[in-house]
Amino acid sequence: MVRDGYSGSASAYGRPMPRSSPFSPSFWRSPLRGPWLTSWLGVVLLGGITVLFVTGLVSYAAYNPNLSPVNDQTPDKGILGFYLFPWPTDPHWLYRLNQGVHVTLGITLIPVLLAKLWSVVPRLFTLPPARSLAHALERISLLLLVGGALFEFVTGVLNVQLDYIFPGSFYTLHFYGAWVFFAAFVAHVALKLPMTLRNLRQLREERSGLVPADPAEPTVSRRGALWFVGGGSLLLFVTTVGQNFDGALRRTALLAPHGGAEPGSGPGGFQINKTAAYAGIRESETSAEAWRLVVEGRDGRRVRLSRADLLDLPLRSAALPIACVEGWSTSDQWWRGVRLRDLAALVGYAEDPPDVFVESLQRRGAFRRSALRANQVADSRSLLALFVNGEDLTPDHGYPARVIVPAAPGVLNTKWVARLTFGDL
Ligand code: HEM
Repeated sequence: MVRDGYSGSASAYGRPMPRSSPFSPSFWRSPLRGPWLTSWLGVVLLGGITVLFVTGLVSYAAYNPNLSPVNDQTPDKGILGFYLFPWPTDPHWLYRLNQGVHVTLGITLIPVLLAKLWSVVPRLFTLPPARSLAHALERISLLLLVGGALFEFVTGVLNVQLDYIFPGSFYTLHFYGAWVFFAAFVAHVALKLPMTLRNLRQLREERSGLVPADPAEPTVSRRGALWFVGGGSLLLFVTTVGQNFDGALRRTALLAPHGGAEPGSGPGGFQINKTAAYAGIRESETSAEAWRLVVEGRDGRRVRLSRADLLDLPLRSAALPIACVEGWSTSDQWWRGVRLRDLAALVGYAEDPPDVFVESLQRRGAFRRSALRANQVADSRSLLALFVNGEDLTPDHGYPARVIVPAAPGVLNTKWVARLTFGDL
């Protein structure tokens, strides 16, 4: 007969449980399980998941979702958007760093999360499922914690690997999922932190329901198990992190969909997400004869510019990266084109350029229309680029003209631009 349902060989109903049932304490025999291992894995997750949560929220802010509905993938966020702030343009690598950390760290933590779940799995099989109202609430919080963790990691990885497997809805799922999971995570940490700290300080483990009632012979030490998990994380790290760099380092990113392979050579030989063909861009509409940029502004002012007209305007250069929400980025590329603020000046905003609404020729794919905030337009490195690395843009990089803005998420650097409408949004 057992008192707590963990340390004997009978269930809390008083009936003996067969050893083959996961509800029987003697089913879980690994001598590695115990609060020491769980506490170490928990501490790594505490740091790592907090960084994931913060960088995830920051990534959402980088879209300037409060600026325009077209930038906002979670319009019903309500008070969850309390922290949003106008996204800055400095440092120009800000989004690259933020998203590189978010995705690389998320992938690196997978073995730690799996090991943590393995270390506590006997606690998920307790009978009766709830002994009291308080116990029922705790069990529900664990469901949200474990389910939320798996949901966030699985949706994140699928999205990165399968390239927007949930078009549009990925952001919504991942954003709301993150809040549910993090609420359960905070509650769990508040409950377990004192025990975690005691376990890490003491050499002797506390008495815990995780210690097996009937331990099997060890095949590896607990430290060995930690090294194994750390080795798995290191392997994922070194086969992912290279997607944030160019050349030989990118080729080491074997597990990243935008790593491994060379993205081509020449001035346009750097990573892209959507090709012109995928976006449904027809050559007939980007030719010199057909393509015109429409710029609209104050009091209905409107100009139509061919690429040749744009080339007659003062051209400026800026060295800026492309950084994708999926975690890959390029090093700084050398862009040349017309400053967005100079285009604003053509339509009545000579001083203090306002926000701009950008429309693309693109027919498929997210962010066909997007908005940039006044601080982004005002930055003298924000361009309607016509050239990259000394050559005309290639079709896949947005020929005839594309937006490039410091520190903005990749999809807000709209390609194949057709219309710019300046004004307060
Ligand atoms: C993705 C994050 C996490 C998940 C999915 C998770 C899951 C779980 C589950 C299901 C349990 C068993 C619950 C119970 O005994 O009632 C547990 C126990 C525990 N967790 Fe976590 N946990 C996570 C993060 C953390 C963190 C960040 C810490 C450290 C502060 C931590 C420390 C502990 C400790 C000390 C125990 C108790 C072990 C025992 O009772 O012997 N966990 N965890």
